[in-house]
Amino acid sequence: MLTQVASFLSRERLLAMSYTVTNVHAHEIIDSRAKPTVEVAVEMEGVRAVAGVPSGASTGAREAVELRDGDMNRFGGAGVLTAVSNVNGELRDLVLSRSWESLAEIDRAMIELDGTENKGRLGANAILGVSMAFARAASQYDRTALWKWLPGIEGQPPRLPVPCFNVLNGGAHAPNPLDFQEFMISPLGAPNFAEAMRAGAEVYAKLKSLLAAGGHSTGLGDEGGFAPDLESPEEVCALLVEAITSAGYSAGRDGVMIALDPASSEFYDGGTYTVSGEKLSSSDMVSRYEKMIVDYPIWSIEDGVAENDDEGWKALTDAIGDRVQLVGDDNFCTNPAIIKRAIENGVANASLIKVNQIGTLTETIEAMTMCHEAGYGQMVSHRSGETPDSFIADLVVATGCGQIKTGAPARGERIAKYNRLLEIADAHPELSYGLR
Ligand code: PGA
Ligand code: ZN
Repeated sequence: MLTQVASFLSRERLLAMSYTVTNVHAHEIIDSRAKPTVEVAVEMEGVRAVAGVPSGASTGAREAVELRDGDMNRFGGAGVLTAVSNVNGELRDLVLSRSWESLAEIDRAMIELDGTENKGRLGANAILGVSMAFARAASQYDRTALWKWLPGIEGQPPRLPVPCFNVLNGGAHAPNPLDFQEFMISPLGAPNFAEAMRAGAEVYAKLKSLLAAGGHSTGLGDEGGFAPDLESPEEVCALLVEAITSAGYSAGRDGVMIALDPASSEFYDGGTYTVSGEKLSSSDMVSRYEKMIVDYPIWSIEDGVAENDDEGWKALTDAIGDRVQLVGDDNFCTNPAIIKRAIENGVANASLIKVNQIGTLTETIEAMTMCHEAGYGQMVSHRSGETPDSFIADLVVATGCGQIKTGAPARGERIAKYNRLLEIADAHPELSYGLR
């Protein structure tokens, strides 16, 4: 307790009372899918920090608005010059107009300036870029690691997360016939973060050779996982178990387990789910998962049913919510107001956390705090369209939620996050590893 108070005081002393931004500038860059996105630089006295904004493909309907130009002569309408000019105009004017005592203060001022419910006027991509670049610049100004500088969550101290490696891609992230979007492996039993990375990389390599031996393609999907011509989710799970065990790990809590993100809103239409050509009702889906979690070492399922299938969500939670983690992504959109209602209605038991779904770091941490207080898990996540920015690695450590998904242990924009976590783990052996 004494040490805690002492380190709290010394940390307080380290941080500036206020931050004066001397310049803000955005420009258009290209993300990992060849689509434009926003990069923002924030300058403070002697410091310049840059942040890149991520972008999803299987987006929830209630996500904050990602402003795209719609000019069909540039990038098929996907340009972000409007968002860029909103940063270089109105947002810059705001940020330079005064000094800021905290991240929350600047985030709230940007939300107010935007004036809409969903950041549709200035764009969540514009606002988030400033929020992230401001936090990074302020941490550098204070000569403090970003994860130590970011606001944390009371009762959930900093921690190194279980990495959930998306090793096999389907759905909106790959051109194969697989309807389920993400098949992840999570080294829950690893003794530390570095060993978890090793397990992920070894299983990934083993999976590659098993696919090649079976005559399958080893080409990659958007998040760096393999994208073979497989159709059945059960067949993929069996293959993952084979890869895990032949890499020398146990396929269980003491070793490596499977996490799924079917992203089922993408194959749900008119009340029916279509999985490998088969038409399934909501309750058929629930029964399918009930069987899958018995047959395979699955510990977490995200978006098992569609974002607007409220009854399906309730039924799924009632059926297996006491045995596996059920993560809301498309239905929750990292939105504190939506998550609050879901908690009251007993829907899911965890939330995916994507900074660009809500558009400021402050609201992201608010959503996580709400989950923590209700006993809901939080899985920090990248987007399928990424930049080499490693911000979410610091965010997941700062908030101590204990889990992150940021793609396969391959492709630069994915390993940037994992390698930043390795750097933090190496420098801070005192940090615990693992799920909460
Ligand atoms: P997205 O996919 O970034 O394309 O939305 C990630 C997910 O669904 O979790
Ligand atoms: Zn998802």
